[in-house]
Amino acid sequence: MSFTLPPLPYAYEALQPYMSKETLEYHHDKHHQAYVTNGNNLLKDSGLEGKSLEEIVKESYGKNAGLFNNAGQHYNHLHFWSWMKPNGGGAIPGEVEKAIVDSFGSVDKFKEEFIQAGVTQFGSGWAWLSVKDGKLAVSKTPNGENPLVHGATPILGCDVWEHSYYIDYRNRRPDYLKAFVENLVNWDYVAELYAKAAK
Ligand code: FE2
Repeated sequence: MSFTLPPLPYAYEALQPYMSKETLEYHHDKHHQAYVTNGNNLLKDSGLEGKSLEEIVKESYGKNAGLFNNAGQHYNHLHFWSWMKPNGGGAIPGEVEKAIVDSFGSVDKFKEEFIQAGVTQFGSGWAWLSVKDGKLAVSKTPNGENPLVHGATPILGCDVWEHSYYIDYRNRRPDYLKAFVENLVNWDYVAELYAKAAK
């Protein structure tokens, strides 16, 4: 296989005022494209050419740092674009809401933990909600790492690299995370991934 960059699933201005056209142009067209280009170069002769993206991420972890960083970020960003939508946030589909309440006590408690994970990730990385052994957990990872390499399936992730928020929020990462949770999350996509992961 080779990595390809699909177009955004919405217009560049569709997430305003929470994420600007300029941020999406740089983040999707420049940053994500660079992970795809570099990932394809590093995939050549890696021995993992015939594998799926998920397998490449898991099998390069701890063994081929260059390939892992780029393949991991390709996986993370592919999902990240779909983890957002115009007029996002709002009501959470029933099954996911129930799982969140079972695991965290309440939706508000989940939001607090997720935001806190993103705020406390030192430097670049991601905040996650994933399914592991049938249960939901919040975590954070550095750089391009993700829960796949820890035996979990991510169902929601927020990019906390500065390239994701600096144009719109400058250094105010907590405000960006709050806007992501309250106004951008595409819960239908989270529910779709949860249904597959919880099987
Ligand atoms: Fe990013």
